[in-house]
Amino acid sequence: MAERRRLIVVSNRGPVAYARERGERIARRGGGGLVTALRSLVLHHDVTWIASAMTFEDRAVAEEAGGESFAETARDGSEYRLRFVVHDDQAYDWFYNVVANPTLWFIQHYLWDLKTAPSLDHGLHHAWAEGYVPVNHAFADAVVDELDRDPGAAVFFHDYHLYLAPRFVREARPEPRLAHFVHIPWPQTDYWHVLPLEIRRAIHDGLLANDVVGFHTPRWRRNFMRSAEDVVGAVPDWARDDIGYEGRRIGITAAPISVDPSEFDELARSDAVLAAGRVHARGRPEKVIVRVDRTDPSKNIVRGFRAFELYLEAHPEMHRRVVMLALLDPSRQDIPEYAEYIGAILRESRRVNDRFQQGGWTPIDLQINDDFPQAVAAYKDYDVLLVNAIFDGLNLVAKEAPLVNERDGVLILSENAGAHEELGDWALSVNPFDVAGQAEAIHRALDMPAAERRVRLEAIRSWVREHDLGAWIDGQLEALDAEPLPVRG
Ligand code: G6P
Repeated sequence: MAERRRLIVVSNRGPVAYARERGERIARRGGGGLVTALRSLVLHHDVTWIASAMTFEDRAVAEEAGGESFAETARDGSEYRLRFVVHDDQAYDWFYNVVANPTLWFIQHYLWDLKTAPSLDHGLHHAWAEGYVPVNHAFADAVVDELDRDPGAAVFFHDYHLYLAPRFVREARPEPRLAHFVHIPWPQTDYWHVLPLEIRRAIHDGLLANDVVGFHTPRWRRNFMRSAEDVVGAVPDWARDDIGYEGRRIGITAAPISVDPSEFDELARSDAVLAAGRVHARGRPEKVIVRVDRTDPSKNIVRGFRAFELYLEAHPEMHRRVVMLALLDPSRQDIPEYAEYIGAILRESRRVNDRFQQGGWTPIDLQINDDFPQAVAAYKDYDVLLVNAIFDGLNLVAKEAPLVNERDGVLILSENAGAHEELGDWALSVNPFDVAGQAEAIHRALDMPAAERRVRLEAIRSWVREHDLGAWIDGQLEALDAEPLPVRG
């Protein structure tokens, strides 16, 4: 375990969101895998966490603290400091609903069909200048303020919401150690060229203001090193995995994030999960294929249903004996592309069900809601877990579910998910666009002898137990401590 140290963690979504219920203020856990992972930092280090005020009550909390950081206690009793950045509503909307998600997320997951989208009109340029830039500035101001309180602290930025903030901090304070972790894929240079020159330059320049930039896999790191060279003329050193830029060296790391196995051991035994499991057990067919995702176009849910349809077409002997349980958490619904994607999911599952359902059997059990205990109950109970993302930075479901599975379930895993670089040998690999291949993988998985299933599952489990979240965090801090060397060339 790395020694205790002072860290300023910066992410758009914070560890808690406040709400008011029956007149009382309550703190809810912030959603998403990233926040869950970072929360354990709080346990072992002196953390000040800077995040956007998301709710009305967050704003009230921020105001009571005079806009400064304040002491908070995590559920496990550990102390940390929290600071909310309060943004102008309109600027935040442009930042989140125009730039960060439908533009940067789409570019980084290759989600555009370039013959028709995007059309980068005044709306994007405006949202960049009046949304993304000022929100990043507000984050940077908060970081600088916290650094002035504690000049020795290191700053750890997260994700695509905050590409410009490191540059703004660096301009104000040249000394502090800055690191940034990008939790999503990094696409190849040419795809970045969809964005206007000044925007793609600012993104690369902002990231290169850090001392360390981290990705989940060597594949995303390689793409970044190439695009940094192409877009801003940085000088990659492929032997040392670093980049020379403006007289500084920036270390580029590749380290896949992980989960805390003990948290899942506990969850699996919790009352909420056991209760959800009892509901599942009622009327369970012989075989269950599970998928657990946000309703995000990158998750490839529609093609997954199509693959299941092809499987059912080829295997009438499995009708009434198998169900695909799709537990989908609604996500980013203020963005039209996301709202439309839910429509596509509903249509496709209805189409497949209309075609095959009979005598009380409905092949796709689609549930769109945010119910984590239900997801963990499904993790325990799957025969096949389908993760067929178009592209995915890592995919934590592929690590979480095998940890608690009780049926020697088989993982079908997209070759474009970051987790594939670690778990690919023990999963059935699929090309996310090849629905015929996915149908065949479903067949292989459902047909696989028990002994082989067990060997594969056990191998995944021991990998994840050994390469757990604690190890990832230690790795991040070591990279942050690495001595900067002079630039070569
Ligand atoms: C996923 C990604 C994270 C990202 C998060 C944001 O979990 O893997 O990298 O930060 O989404 O989600 P949000 O709900 O805040 O838009």
